[in-house]
Parts: sequence; C-alpha cells; structure tokens
Amino acid sequence: MVKEQFVGEHYQDIGELNREVRAEYRKLNGDLRGKDILSVEQFDGETIARVLERADEIEVMTREERHGVLRGKHVTVVFYQPSTRTFTSFMRAAQELGAEVMGLQGMDQFSSVAKGESLEDTTWALEAYETDLIVLRHFADNSALIAADETDIPVISGGAGKYEHPTQALLDLRTLVKESPLEDPRKMHVGFVGDLKYGRTVHSLSRLLAITGVGQISFISPESLKLPRPILTALQNDGVRVVEVENLAEIIGQVDALYVTRIQEEWFAPEEYEACMAMAKSYWITPEVMQLMKPEAIVLHPLPRKEEISKAVDRDPRAVYRRQMNHGLYVRMALLSLILES
Ligand code: NCD
Repeated sequence: MVKEQFVGEHYQDIGELNREVRAEYRKLNGDLRGKDILSVEQFDGETIARVLERADEIEVMTREERHGVLRGKHVTVVFYQPSTRTFTSFMRAAQELGAEVMGLQGMDQFSSVAKGESLEDTTWALEAYETDLIVLRHFADNSALIAADETDIPVISGGAGKYEHPTQALLDLRTLVKESPLEDPRKMHVGFVGDLKYGRTVHSLSRLLAITGVGQISFISPESLKLPRPILTALQNDGVRVVEVENLAEIIGQVDALYVTRIQEEWFAPEEYEACMAMAKSYWITPEVMQLMKPEAIVLHPLPRKEEISKAVDRDPRAVYRRQMNHGLYVRMALLSLILES
C-alpha cells in the first residue's frame, strides 16, 4: 500500500528538497552533535574528513573501548523498505558502541502504518518512548525531512525513496579512499553504471564527490536510465567534470573506479522494467569486461546485486564490494558516535 502511493512521483522535487536541506540550519559545519543526517548536501570537506577520521579511530579501538562510547544511549532503527546491509550495519554499529537498540523492519506490514498511520504520527510514537536517535528508511523522497521536522531527536536517513542515501555515500567514499591506490578522489575518474535515474546511492555519491572534489565523473547508461537533470545541473554548477555516455566499452578503460548498480525494479511498471532489463544486458560486468579495465581500477556496488556483476568477477582482486560492506560498519559507528557523544 505504502509503496504504490509513491510510485510515479516525479523528480522535479529534487531541486526543492536539495534547497531545503542546504538551508543554513541543516549544515553540519564540522559538528555533528545532535544533528540530523538527511542529505549529503549538508556536508562540507571538514565534516566529511571528521567522519572518515572517526571511522579510522573506531576501527583500531578494542571491543571494550567501543562498548563504552554510547553506553546508556538508545537507538531506534525503523525501516519501511527492505534492507539487508543498512539495517544490519546500523544495528551492529549501535550495539558495538554499547547503545541499546530497537530494530523495526517491515513497518508497512507490521505496524499501524498498515492501518494508515502517517509518518509524522509514527515519529511521535518513537520519540515518546525516549529513544535518543532514529535511523529511518522510507519509500517517500522527502521522508527523512518530514521525520526530522517532527522531532527534536536526531534522525539519520537510511535511504529515502529515489532521492538520497547519504550514509551509503559516506561508506562508498571511505571505500574509494581505502581501496583505490590513488587514495584521493580528486585524482580519480569515477564511472557510474546501471540505474542512474532511480538509484539513490548514485545521486548521493556523485553529489558527495562534488563536495570532496573528483577528477571526473562518467555516467554510463541508456537514455531511459539517465541521471535526473537537476542532479546533473547541480554537478555542473559545482564545476565537476561530467560526461554522459551510452556505450560502456567506450569509457571503461579510462575509469579508476566503477560504481555498478542494479535496475531499481520497485520503481518501474512491469513492462518498462522488462524493457530496461533487455537493454541493461549490454552493461553487465563479466570477466571479459574486467579485462578492458585498468589493472589498478576498482569495482564497487552498494548491493544487493542481480545479474549486473557476474559471480565470476568476485574473484578479481579489483572487486571491492565485499569489503565495501565492512567500511559501512565503521562509517555508521563514526556517525552514531559523533551525533550522540556528549
Ligand atoms: C541500496 C539502497 O537501498 O538504495 N542498498 C543499500 O542500502 N546498500 C541499493 C539498492 O537497493 O539497489
């Protein structure tokens, strides 16, 4: 029920949403204490550096030390859309730091949302039970903003509709920095391939790279899966070198990192999805395609994957998507600790 309500919603809103989260009071300015994380537009270079540094600090802590970081705090992880990684890693991150955690999945099925409860009212309920922070994943593009405006406790977006997935972008950035021999995104040519239209991870990471600086971004897709125009315009306005190409073979030998995504089936009508899948085959990453890539280039994927990266590619040392998940645990611990530590 909840899903259908949001299918067909349009991208024109993205410019508006971005303007709202860019508003001065949402900017992080290096200090995350008590703040919401709704969009990468809130970040600047200093704040990104602070998150990555904190992730490094936590990575080398002992378990004992980690357990003390959020002792006495309570975190609620509430998801309306399916998730393996984001849900589990936020749960683990909060537990590992010593917080108590309540995890609610399948909200549209198992909570009063199935009776028609609004996101605003659900947010009130969570706040009433004295949790210190809410992590939210929801079908609506503006869901994280709505929840954040309804409560004084911090809200972290764990993915909002087709719009953004800011914590994924931060973990993707850590993956680029740690796994590429170039180390610095400003030296990298990053290629994005797959569903650039509905892939919220693509939207967030490309915008985050505009903030850190990036050598070049190439968006590789058929016409029907192209990046939404407001995001492309925002990147161009920020001076990012951006190229759009339809043919993967044309560009694959030039990229230093390739970010692969699945076709977001949930946002397509069935016939439209079939048509996209038929076209998407020419973008599948196979061992033959890997031979065209630079020897030191890396391949990322936010997961879940379908057929867009063949299983045989997993053995290639340049495939870093398995380690990418582990970077997510540290980045989420970093965010929780920076927001909740007093
Ligand atoms: C992504 C998402 O939910 O947007 N998954 C994730 O959080 N790792 C990507 C996807 O679903 O395709």
